[in-house]
Amino acid sequence: MKESSKPWRPFTSNCCTTENQTILKNFSKCKPSRSDYSKNIAPLPSFRRLSFSDLSRSSSTRINEDLALSFGSDLCDFQLSELRAITQNFSSNFLLGEGGFGTVHKGYLDDNFRQGLKAQPVAVKLLDIEGLQGHREWLAEVIFLGQLRHPNLVKLIGYCCEDEERLLVYEFMPRGSLENHLFRRLTSIPWATRLKIAIGAAKGLSFLHGAEKPVIYRDFKTSNVLLDSDFTAKLSDFGLAKMGPEGSKSHVTTRVMGTYGYAAPEYISTGHLTTKSDVYSFGVVLLELLTGRRATDKSRPKTEQNIVDWTKPYLSSSRRLRYIMDPRLAGQYSVKGAKEIAHLALQCISLHPKDRPRMAMTVETLESLQQFKDMAVTSGHWPISSKSTKNGASNNNKVKTRAISANQKQLAPVRSKKV
Ligand SMILES: Nc1ncnc2c1ncn2[C@@H]1O[C@H](COP(=O)(O)OP(=O)(O)OP(=O)(O)O)[C@@H](O)[C@H]1O
Ligand SMILES: [Mg+2]
Repeated sequence: MKESSKPWRPFTSNCCTTENQTILKNFSKCKPSRSDYSKNIAPLPSFRRLSFSDLSRSSSTRINEDLALSFGSDLCDFQLSELRAITQNFSSNFLLGEGGFGTVHKGYLDDNFRQGLKAQPVAVKLLDIEGLQGHREWLAEVIFLGQLRHPNLVKLIGYCCEDEERLLVYEFMPRGSLENHLFRRLTSIPWATRLKIAIGAAKGLSFLHGAEKPVIYRDFKTSNVLLDSDFTAKLSDFGLAKMGPEGSKSHVTTRVMGTYGYAAPEYISTGHLTTKSDVYSFGVVLLELLTGRRATDKSRPKTEQNIVDWTKPYLSSSRRLRYIMDPRLAGQYSVKGAKEIAHLALQCISLHPKDRPRMAMTVETLESLQQFKDMAVTSGHWPISSKSTKNGASNNNKVKTRAISANQKQLAPVRSKKV
């Protein structure tokens, strides 16, 4: 990966006031550790201080000036008209998907688009910005993804900030999200591919946590794991990412945000965020990979609606484990591997954050499972229900902030909701 040619510029000069410093005030000297998992990573620019406060008070021209100053040629500053042109005015024919913050459209940058920008397909996210929070998330994404480069993080190619419009332009991920593959497609993902995806996603998180100043991703879930043509997993959506605690502090205190079913219980109840909150969410995704069921699924019987509550009694016994394995695997999985993943998932979803493994350890464990070639026989599965044959699971588990407010991912206040 390329190394940034320009020295890092502080992001404070023009548009930042000292008040209301939020998301990225600690994004200084953020360099990856020299762990095994950062070998392929381009050295980051030598950060000085990248901080910003309430940029909503700055004009879009000023924001663009500051971003251009900070990122130089590393990020492309697109015009809205250019993005309209490459997506046929954000036509539904080019729609790749829609999330809580707007639609994502496919576009194509040809050779003549900009000097130095290679011809390639891209994904353009058109943020449905209502108020400050949407703008903050857009800016957080630009600043985090603009600086962090890793094979398991989706590449941000550029951004657009014109008047009230906020857009992001990413590398196009041909296989879409893990969520689509696991729950919506007719064809199931084979065991080895699930393991590959888990390893890739774990490496992405491990990279973030292993930085000199760790980054907490805060919204780890299947829809934010995107897949390249060879099923390499890449994390997208850094709008909620947060710098980890500084100095002797054990956590950062934040508003509780994220997605129900994935957020760690102690984070929901206290607002205390650590890298171990991401590890919990990773454990939930491991359970989804094992069972083919969504983190929360209201269409299931009450005792099966929450994947953590439902699977826990089955995870520590290989005899019982087979009853919760994804029927769409049709027995084609490594029994030893599944047992180890179940054990790992159980550790990741430990109630006490300290009992959860670090992501670097999780990567090692998962990689060691690739050697297992034993395949289960097809007996012992629960019959495939008509529902799961159709699309794997229902799609009604998205209980997130949209239910609370139109455009924020804020989880319900601690008092009113339980995970
Ligand atoms: N870079 C990309 N390449 C290809 N498809 C993408 C890309 N980014 C997003 N998508 C598609 O767009 C869909 C919507 O993504 P988006 O991140 O907006 O929403 P989400 O992850 O489903 O929900 P949330 O708002 O909670 O993040 C994804 O599920 C994926 O299918
Ligand atoms: Mg997303």
